Amino acid sequence: MDCFDPGWSFEPAAADGRGAMWAGRVLAHGRLVATVTEGVIDLTRTPDASASELEQLTCEGWIARSWRNANGVGGSGVARELAAIRGPICEVAAGPGGGFMPAVRRLNSGARILVNDLSPGVLRPWTRFLAGCGLDPGLGFAAFDATAPVLRPGCMAAVCSLDGFSNVAPAAIGPALDAIRRGETTYAEAAPAGPRPQDQAVESMAAALRRGGVLFAEEGTLDPAGRDDVAPARREEWQRRWSPFLGFAPARAATAAGLRVVRHETTPGRTLDPGEGEVPRDAARFGITLRTQRELVVAVKP
Ligand SMILES: C[S@@+](CC[C@H](N)C(=O)[O-])C[C@H]1O[C@@H](n2cnc3c(N)ncnc32)[C@H](O)[C@@H]1O
Repeated sequence: MDCFDPGWSFEPAAADGRGAMWAGRVLAHGRLVATVTEGVIDLTRTPDASASELEQLTCEGWIARSWRNANGVGGSGVARELAAIRGPICEVAAGPGGGFMPAVRRLNSGARILVNDLSPGVLRPWTRFLAGCGLDPGLGFAAFDATAPVLRPGCMAAVCSLDGFSNVAPAAIGPALDAIRRGETTYAEAAPAGPRPQDQAVESMAAALRRGGVLFAEEGTLDPAGRDDVAPARREEWQRRWSPFLGFAPARAATAAGLRVVRHETTPGRTLDPGEGEVPRDAARFGITLRTQRELVVAVKP
């Protein structure tokens, strides 16, 4: 798949690095995106899966299970629509579940899918597992920040996300994550100012679509009506802490990115358990209970 933006380059640290391990900087349109030391590209650590969490998922056989269960085959029918697409598909923030990819590959063994995640540590077990099954032709794996315009404009027939867009975090947050966990800073303080990363990811992926290309997003979003009635000042304080994560609306993001929404379905979700992640855990400390809803958005590039 020839879909990487030619604006990416590698700048070696020494003028003559021949015979040595790579060292230097990876640039995207002049912006530093990663450093390379001793031949190893140091992409910022994945924001939501530490090395030990990943090890645990691998030990628990998550990848094999996601493949066996063919994530997304039931439900909304999105996998069937994706399986009928002719041309390359990008699976955004695939995670250990792989998003729609396992189901689409099951329905169409010829599907060409570029599987994306910020973390190479998430993608590596997928490549190993699928190669072990003799199943990787047609699949590409690419660790990059979905909020950045990495893909060549117009190269994709479809992009899809199963809880991918809603979980996208700015790569810059990675190093701050431990400090957030220790309560030394907040997500809002550590996140770079500017547009919500989820919106940016939708915009970047919309740019990668060709005319007539389709974006499929099935996302859990926070139900704005579902927060407990805590004192307004306290609720505002909490909202400030997590503002970059709140208020993501996939249909609005798709429209803002120049796509035409052709399907938008919302179904009530459930109450989030504080153990399910940083956001509900911190909400619980403020006496706030969060409810989710499921949103399906199908949008076409005019
Ligand atoms: C909860 S998972 C998403 C669910 C996944 N699609 C599945 O089916 O299991 C969140 C994933 O988003 C990835 N992620 C976070 N920020 C990202 C970014 N900026 N670009 C690409 N992937 C990102 C994380 O590394 C993680 O694997």
